[in-house]
Amino acid sequence: MLNIVLFGPPGAGKGTQSEKLIDRYQLVHLSTGDIFRANIRGETELGKLAKSYMDKGELVPDKVTIGMLKSEVTKHPEAKGFIFDGFPRTTAQAEALDEFLKSMGSEIAMMLALEVPEEELKKRLKLRAETSGRTDDADPEVINKRIAVYQRETAPVADYYRSQNKYKGVDGTGTIDEISQRLYRAIDT
Ligand code: AP5
Ligand code: MG
Repeated sequence: MLNIVLFGPPGAGKGTQSEKLIDRYQLVHLSTGDIFRANIRGETELGKLAKSYMDKGELVPDKVTIGMLKSEVTKHPEAKGFIFDGFPRTTAQAEALDEFLKSMGSEIAMMLALEVPEEELKKRLKLRAETSGRTDDADPEVINKRIAVYQRETAPVADYYRSQNKYKGVDGTGTIDEISQRLYRAIDT
């Protein structure tokens, strides 16, 4: 299996680049943010809970997120591998993912971390707010909060994969295709 953690701050291009990677490597894309938003649209209990955190730019509690992620993985027994987009976002989630994959006889191959300056992130999210309908894009204060939460709670997850020699930083600026090419090179070498 080829299991990749696609990592980066809000607006780094995780969703955009995931689409390219799943085509090229025949992987299943699991975005915890997308799954939460589908639950919000479906008005499920999980959706209601998730919305109360997402609208403020805070993380949904680990227990809920980890349980949901595991259940999504088990829906794809034939998968050649997964792109984890927006997960893990805490060290506890990274540990749970390792343990879970190990129980399936698998593991994370690498973390690809998209590096984008904060000003560029804010510019992209502000632009996306015009069309996305995402409540967490609409308010610049919530965008700032998401970036702050990333710095405080999520950035340390990179160290977790660094210590396993699985961390690969990738320049996340330039055109979408330029960035894809960098990701392909990082995966293939
Ligand atoms: P999530 O949905 O994961 O949002 P995010 O991390 O804030 O990131 P985005 O989806 O906004 O950005 P992206 O990196 O995917 O970039 P994209 O490709 O869209 O999480 C949302 C919330 O859910 C969290 O705040 C939290 O509450 C909750 N949550 C999710 N996972 C969780 C977890 N594991 N634990 C706890 N809570 C969790 O690109 C952004 C924009 O830029 C787009 O408009 C795109 O078109 C544009 N763009 C992309 N590439 C380029 C480029 N090269 N040049 C110019 N523009 C570009
Ligand atoms: Mg995304």
